[in-house]
Amino acid sequence: MTSDNIILETRNITKFFPPNIYANYKINFNLKEGEIHALLGENGAGKTTLMRILFGELTPDEGEIYIKGKKARIKSPRDAISYKIWMVHQHFRLVENLTVTENIALGLANKIIHPEKEVESKIKEIMETYELRVDINAKIWQLSTGEKQRVEILKALYAGSKILILDEPTSVLTPLERERFFKVLKKLKENRTSIIFITHKLDEAMKSDRITVLRKGKLIATVYPYEIDKNELVKMMIGKNISFLTTKNKRSISNKKVLNVKNLWVLGDRGVYAVQGATFELKEGEILGIAGVAGNGQKELAEAIVGLRPISKGEIYICEKNITNKPTRFIYDNGVAFIPEDRIGTGVIIDLSVIDNFILKTYYLPEYTKHKIFIQYNKFLNTFNDAVKKYGIIVPNPYFPVKTLSGGNIQKLILARELSKKHKLIIALHPTYGLDVATTNAVRKTLLEESMRGTSILLISEDLEEIFLLSDKIAVMYRGKIVGVFEKEKADLHTIGLLMAGEEIRGA
Ligand SMILES: Nc1ncnc2c1ncn2[C@@H]1O[C@H](COP(=O)(O)OP(=O)(O)OP(=O)(O)O)[C@@H](O)[C@H]1O
Ligand SMILES: [Mg+2]
Repeated sequence: MTSDNIILETRNITKFFPPNIYANYKINFNLKEGEIHALLGENGAGKTTLMRILFGELTPDEGEIYIKGKKARIKSPRDAISYKIWMVHQHFRLVENLTVTENIALGLANKIIHPEKEVESKIKEIMETYELRVDINAKIWQLSTGEKQRVEILKALYAGSKILILDEPTSVLTPLERERFFKVLKKLKENRTSIIFITHKLDEAMKSDRITVLRKGKLIATVYPYEIDKNELVKMMIGKNISFLTTKNKRSISNKKVLNVKNLWVLGDRGVYAVQGATFELKEGEILGIAGVAGNGQKELAEAIVGLRPISKGEIYICEKNITNKPTRFIYDNGVAFIPEDRIGTGVIIDLSVIDNFILKTYYLPEYTKHKIFIQYNKFLNTFNDAVKKYGIIVPNPYFPVKTLSGGNIQKLILARELSKKHKLIIALHPTYGLDVATTNAVRKTLLEESMRGTSILLISEDLEEIFLLSDKIAVMYRGKIVGVFEKEKADLHTIGLLMAGEEIRGA
């Protein structure tokens, strides 16, 4: 095996989480020098766990790691870094109030003093080599998600890393940024850096040099993309074939207005108007897709509708009822569900238990409390167990903190909670972000079924495939404005793409 320039290898890596989960079980994985290796698997398959073990954040119960054929001792990230291993997490770990340069120099323990000029010139050199351009004097909060990711990669390269682990790097990127990202990977490869990246997108896996599939903690196979096709990959991931949602039939939509947004102005975090005069409506059972590159006001629009962000000007009505600047619970009680983008920040309370998070929005209802004080968990458990089954959520123990769930399972929990009650309107921000293929398909089916039952859906997504698949109407948001609304039949991908990039289209 060593003749094949294997740079990293694991032997029998096993990680058990009480009470009953083998997140990793006897995993024999290997990485070649200068290869781009995709790691695929269902939500909860053990991908992040394995990577955190390689990065020294978790200690395996059994098994060893070999670097260039020698047994490595990796007990902490610091050890991993000394073996030139670096991991970029799904949720970036940058200090928002510091500049790019400061973030890169920060925490590099091998040197106490970092002369600014030296640091800057080294960063600039790396930026040129890998085409990882960002404004090094900008504060992190001023950057887009794609730029933040570039800073994370710069930081890794600055530290001299040769093995780069990226946990779902593309789920946060726009289509354009994604193309750029893959160019960077190619450059890294040319410079003999080895890359492991986790993805849920089969197309991306097919573009890599090799693919490893994990399922329920076990390594199913490591294959070359030319040996297999996408269906076989899905089968390796979930153990069976699935039928993908293809297209939706045209339906007649009732005339009843469920959501009416009139000339809405909403301030963003930076004190400028993130939403500028948005006006649109949504009929009963209709799905309106809002396409747009993240950061063009979609999140602020959604937050304003559900009462999480003050409205400066304009009005919002739900079935003729004015909900402008009303408290979130009032809006929820009037039939509005919310699937937030930032599931760790807004979607769940990370230290509360799984079950507490599930009941977060309903615990106060009379049917669940005794003498208006005591929450009766036994009454919730049935609903909870049904939801766990329906959405296939992997929960080690409902009374454990929600942070013990894998990323995708947290997203499923939020969906289950939000959809456990009948609503008039669902606001869904990137609802399939971070979900595996089977769950993505299931969530899309659920949203369609809800719309068939008369629920209106405001679907905000960067995934144009998703927007086209589900929507009846498609709007594009650019710099806080709705710059075009199309019936699905009259919308074409090219035009929508141009509008998203800020081009003006006559007649839109
Ligand atoms: N600290 C922990 N305590 C208990 N269980 C855990 C802990 N961390 C992870 N798990 C469990 O280990 C399993 C694997 O989780 P992991 O995060 O590795 O999955 P993943 O493949 O990265 O999934 P996703 O695609 O959803 O991110 C899951 O069932 C998860 O609930
Ligand atoms: Mg993960």
